[in-house]
Parts: sequence; C-alpha cells; structure tokens
Amino acid sequence: MTNPLADELTTTRRPRPCVLVIFGATGDLTHRKLVPSLMRLAHDGLLPPGFSVIGFARRPWSNEDFRRGLTEAVARHGGDEAAIAFTQQARSFEFLQGTFDDAESYARLKSRLEELDVERDTSGNRVFYLATPPSSYAAILAHLESSGLSAEREHTFARVIVEKPFGHDFASARALNQQVARGFREHQVFRIDHYLGKETVQNIVALRFANGIFEPLWNEKFVDHVQITVAESIGIEGRGKYFEESGIIRDMIQNHLLQVMTLVAMEPPVSSDANAIRDEKVKVLRAIRSLTPEAVAQRTVRGQYGRGFVQGRDVPGYREEPDVAQDSRTETYAAIRINVDNWRWANTPFFLRAGKRLARRVTEIAIHFKRPPHLLYGNVHRRSLESNVLLIRVQPDEGISLRFGAKVPGPDFKIRGVRMDFDYGSAFGSQTADAYERLLLDAMLGDTTLFARRDEVEEAWRIVDSIVAGWSAAGSAPLAYEAGTWGPDAGDALLGDGRTWRRP
Ligand code: BG6
Repeated sequence: MTNPLADELTTTRRPRPCVLVIFGATGDLTHRKLVPSLMRLAHDGLLPPGFSVIGFARRPWSNEDFRRGLTEAVARHGGDEAAIAFTQQARSFEFLQGTFDDAESYARLKSRLEELDVERDTSGNRVFYLATPPSSYAAILAHLESSGLSAEREHTFARVIVEKPFGHDFASARALNQQVARGFREHQVFRIDHYLGKETVQNIVALRFANGIFEPLWNEKFVDHVQITVAESIGIEGRGKYFEESGIIRDMIQNHLLQVMTLVAMEPPVSSDANAIRDEKVKVLRAIRSLTPEAVAQRTVRGQYGRGFVQGRDVPGYREEPDVAQDSRTETYAAIRINVDNWRWANTPFFLRAGKRLARRVTEIAIHFKRPPHLLYGNVHRRSLESNVLLIRVQPDEGISLRFGAKVPGPDFKIRGVRMDFDYGSAFGSQTADAYERLLLDAMLGDTTLFARRDEVEEAWRIVDSIVAGWSAAGSAPLAYEAGTWGPDAGDALLGDGRTWRRP
C-alpha cells in the first residue's frame, strides 16, 4: 500500500537535514508513537539525509540500551517495514543521559549537536520535542534558552514541539506560552494536537474550500445544527491519576473537539498560509462567549461511567479504576452546546460530545440541514422527514456520506432516508498515515498549519475555564451512566427542539 504523504511530499516538499532531540526519550510516547512514526517516514523515503535523533532522559542508559528498547517498540507499534527501517538506521539514534534542570547536561547536548553537524552534515538545524510530563517543560525551556540552543542563526532552524496537555487552565497555559516565548518566536513553536494530523480532519478544509457546492449552504440559513462526537469505548487505560485532574473536558474538549470545531465553523481563509488559516480559526473561538454558571447549567451535561458491558466484556466503573477516588466527581463524559456569535452561525448551535466507555469508538462530524420549508405531499408529515445530514466520518471507517430522502418504490408516496457514500479506502486504496507521521514531518518542514497557535490555545482555555467554574459552582456530581451505552439520558435533552444525538 502506498502512503499518501509520500506521494504528496516527494513531489513537493522535503525537510532539510536536522537532528531531532527528544526529551523524555525513555517514555511511552517515544516508544509507542514517535519513533515508530519516524521509521514509517524513513521507510517511505521522507526523512532528510543525515537525519539523527538524540534521546535525552534521566536514566543511566547507553546507546545500546536505548536502541534495544526502540527495536522492540518499533516492531510492535510500527510494523514490519518500520522495523526494517530501524535496523538500517539504528546508528543514527543515540542517547544522552541528563537531568532536565542541570545546565551541564545542556552544555553536553550542545557540543554533541555541534559534532553531529560535522559528522552528519545537519548544518545546525534542530527540532526539540518535549515528550516529558508537563511538570518538566519549564525547566527544559529555560535551559534551551539560556544555553543558546533555541536561537536560530541565518539559514538554520531551531524548533520546539510541545506535547499536550498545554496547561491545565487559562492561567497556566498563558504562563507556559510566556515561558516558550522567552526562547522561541511563534514560528518556531509547534503545539501538538494530534487530531489536526488526522487525514479526515484535514479533509474538512478540502471539502469546504475545494468544492463549490457546500460553502453556499454552510451557514445558519441552511444548517439546523452541527454535532461533533468523539466517542471512545476504552476507559482511562491506567491513567487514573492524570484523568482525575483533567476529566474529559481538559483531556478531549479543550483541544481536539474545539480544534475540529474551528475548522468546521471558520470563514474561508485568504490563503493556505498557516497564519491565514489560524487567524480564521481563532476568530471562531473569540466568537464563543465564556459561559455564565446559569448557561453552564442549561447548556452542558456531565456524566461518569459506572460498571457495564463493553464489546463483549464486563468492565469496572470509573470509581473502581486504579488511582481514582471512590467518591470522585470527575466527568468521563461531557456534552456541550456552543453558540458561535457571528453572522454565519447566529442561530445554529454546535453540539460537542466526548466520552469514555461509550458504546463504540467513533469520531464524526454531522452537519444537520434544515427541513424543506414546504411540503408538496399532503400525506407526508414534515416532522417525519429525516433532515439531510452531511456526515464526515473521521474514524474508523473514514469517509463522507450524505443522507437525503428518496421515494420508496411502490404505488404509495413514501419517503425514506438513503445514503450517498464516499469511502477513503475504496476511493484511494491507500492507508492513511498516522497523525504523528504528518505532524513530525511538518515540524521538520517548518509548516505550522496543523499546530495550535498561542492565541488559539488561550481562547480555548478561556471557554473551558468558564464551564469548569460553572460545574464547580453547582457543586453537583456528574450523572451516572452505564459503561457501553451512549452516556447519560440527559444528553439528548440538551439538544432541544426535538433533536436527538446520533447513535452511530
Ligand atoms: C488523547 C487523550 O489526546 O486522545 C486520550 O489523552 C484519548 O484520552 C486519545 O484516548 C484519543 O485519540 P485517538 O486518536 O485514539 O482518537
């Protein structure tokens, strides 16, 4: 199977030689995502010549220890082709033991980078990846700045990729942004939101702006409402400590759902330039007012899963998971009505929903159009007609479908909803690249389009903070729902006007 990135990039863009420094190189993210993705890129011939990796972490590992761990991880998470690529490239991966708050470790890093520039011809180009727990970000950023590693000289680049979570609330996100800005200018900063790297999420922009037929309908005159669902059947996967602090609103809504929503709701950008697109995205967030506690009570529903049955097996409730308090009030499900106060969307609500341990894993965007204003056929009741729905299936089963009414064959005049379908797999016959492949490559290319800009992150936190404040003022616990269902029943009531959540 061919990798679509390979087709696009071999003909258009190719990164310059560089060294990727991964802070937190012994961690799960490096093993599960980063290095397997890099090796798939290597297999497809998309990495630049001389490309090298320095894994920086505290453990007293040798290069051999580091490479041994990666060999196994790449085979497990990247597949056979990536594993072969790793055996061919293992020597370009090396380990540097250091502590994040020790200036001497950065001095050693700097001199090793300078040596590599000669040995591997990497010309002073560096990408720093913060794959550590967020508590280490401040120290690493401060040392990158004071050691001079964040500075760009003429014809060289220094970039930093920051993993999520980017802050815990508005104040901490702003403080982190300020810390980042001491060493790096905005064009050097790549804040990861892996949903933006998903092929189908990028296709939202293509669907809207590479076609003439959708955009004229894409507004409050024709769209009744929009549903954005990110449902997962998994639970919290042993991350009880983290999830107790974050809840689904910080884990999924502040970043992934609001980012996807901005792509659906934004105005046409003036160009495909990263800042032109991000200018339009941030305007959407600015058009969403902070919610008052009363609005939070009316426009949000929170849930927490109890025991249940998911995909053929019994699963424990959230409060029975390790590291979760027995009386925890953390939400594992949230549904939120968002009003975008601008001309395009004045009367069209966006409903966002995310949850753990729901009936199945599905991410989709459903544009529900208004019903026809007048019906020709007396025997067809207007309410009984299903509305037209344009469905963007982000995962799994990637594709787009349009639902419309058709006459059921026969002497009676009956209308039934039918679907017109586009399926990625059958149309292009190629696997979609993992989001991390795309994002790592874009960072090496210096393309910030698929990364969140400083103002976007802060605006999203402003909205989320107002919801969290409303929930804590209400002092109530989230509603219970059974694992393996579609969340609390009250989720439907939120939509109003006889609308219901899709049950994909
Ligand atoms: C992560 C969240 O950002 O996204 C996880 O921290 C979640 O809780 C994951 O499971 C979902 O990503 P994907 O790509 O599997 O939909």
